[in-house]
Amino acid sequence: MLEGLMAQVERIVILTGAGISAESGIDTFRSAGGLWEQHRVEDVATPEGFARNPNLVLNFYDMRRAALASVAPNPAHAALARLEREFAGELLLVTQNVDDLHERGGSRSVLHMHGELKSALCSACEMRSPWHVTMIERPPCPVCQAPTLRPDVVWFGEMPYEMGRIYAALENCDLFVSIGTSGAVYPAAGFVAEARANGARTLELNLEPSEGSRLFHETRHGPASALVPQWVEEVLGG
Ligand code: OAD
Repeated sequence: MLEGLMAQVERIVILTGAGISAESGIDTFRSAGGLWEQHRVEDVATPEGFARNPNLVLNFYDMRRAALASVAPNPAHAALARLEREFAGELLLVTQNVDDLHERGGSRSVLHMHGELKSALCSACEMRSPWHVTMIERPPCPVCQAPTLRPDVVWFGEMPYEMGRIYAALENCDLFVSIGTSGAVYPAAGFVAEARANGARTLELNLEPSEGSRLFHETRHGPASALVPQWVEEVLGG
């Protein structure tokens, strides 16, 4: 078990998924009634779907972006922000989430490997711009003025952001923690094996055993709003 080791760790990589935002009221993807039961992945989360029906895709992300206004961070987000402030070692927080709840929970450094709802990507000049309103009207790119903006969200078949930085951190960390993710989507699902291969201890915090649970040294099951603050307290030696 890891409990006694928590106070000794020096370099932590944390990966979060939709489960950390579930108690804030954002639908996860693969739960019963989740986003991928309500929408077809091929329609709203692939470049081909966007080419076929851009309005459907723009509307899907416009609605998800607008919905952020009615949700708030929960104690799990706040606990990770506390860890960032108080942990004396190195910490890399990687999220697959496109919401902004880590930032609103107080985290200052968050790596959004699947992009962000509050960002726009220009298909023409490839620049990323902060974005807070709708895109369905085809507004011009703030950089090159072309009407070629798309959601800055990584779709299936596209390369996630910052993989070099993430793998470098996984090579050097002594603890890898996966929070609220099903372990169903690569490359994120492979991070635990990568960290273990480099000698890190690994911990899963999830509502239930994920697809990759057996790959972790330790798994704890329950709601993130309870598990994450408890674990952060252990790391900080409280
Ligand atoms: P999933 O919907 O696949 O998995 C969410 C996980 O969170 C499940 O294992 C749940 O058991 C767990 N969970 C639910 N509520 C929880 C709670 N209150 N506390 C703790 N855990 C809870 O979401 P992700 O793993 O994030 O990618 O999905 C990964 C990627 O697949 C997403 O980033 C998205 C999606 O397709 C793209 O769109 C590219």
